[in-house]
Amino acid sequence: LSFEQLNGPFRDGGLLLRPLVARDAGELYMLVDAHPRELARWLPWVTATRAVADSSYYIMSLTGFWKSGLAYGVFENGQLVGTVGFQHGDERNQTVEIGYWLGTPFQGKGLATRALRLALKAGFEHTAVHRVAARVQLDNRPSIALLEKLGFQFEGVERQGIKFGDGRPDHRVYSLLRPEFVGKA
Ligand SMILES: CC(C)(COP(=O)(O)OP(=O)(O)OC[C@H]1O[C@@H](n2cnc3c(N)ncnc32)[C@H](O)[C@@H]1OP(=O)(O)O)[C@@H](O)C(=O)NCCC(=O)NCCS
Repeated sequence: LSFEQLNGPFRDGGLLLRPLVARDAGELYMLVDAHPRELARWLPWVTATRAVADSSYYIMSLTGFWKSGLAYGVFENGQLVGTVGFQHGDERNQTVEIGYWLGTPFQGKGLATRALRLALKAGFEHTAVHRVAARVQLDNRPSIALLEKLGFQFEGVERQGIKFGDGRPDHRVYSLLRPEFVGKA
């Protein structure tokens, strides 16, 4: 195990994952700001992202896999197209949650499948994590399809566990356990 190796970079053809750093804030903000309404439908933090400073603050808040989180920028041929990251780490229980999104023009091309495979492989290889969870809104068909394709198992519905604007929509909870992933990268 090596936390340094967790930083990658990790590659699959023209796709590259590496941790977000301060100088990515402008490009990250532009990617969100180009199609805010579409992304805000699924991601609770989008409406609060109103300036590059909000993206900078987010990047600065990432202090590591088991701490406040680790987010990789997903780059396709050098261009930032989205992020995939780990949050809500619990080192004692070796559990973490995965989160991900792509800029609207980059969705539906198989990029998330490849990016999540790289991130999961990194997480399982370079940390002792045992369970990776994901929470997805009941009607987020692309995200549900993505998780099921990657072998995540449906556990049940978490009621009102995520504040989302004025509401608290229910979420489907999925998980992928180490023995289910290892060897399937
Ligand atoms: C969820 C998301 C990351 C998927 O990324 P993607 O690159 O489009 O996904 P992929 O192209 O790798 O496709 C994964 C699966 O989803 C399916 N899918 C993609 N778009 C779909 C759509 N509009 N409706 C139904 N299924 C869809 C694909 O068919 C694919 O399954 P298949 O290969 O078996 O056909 C992307 O749609 C996104 O960023 N959405 C907005 C943010 C978000 O919802 N994040 C997740 C919050 S839990």
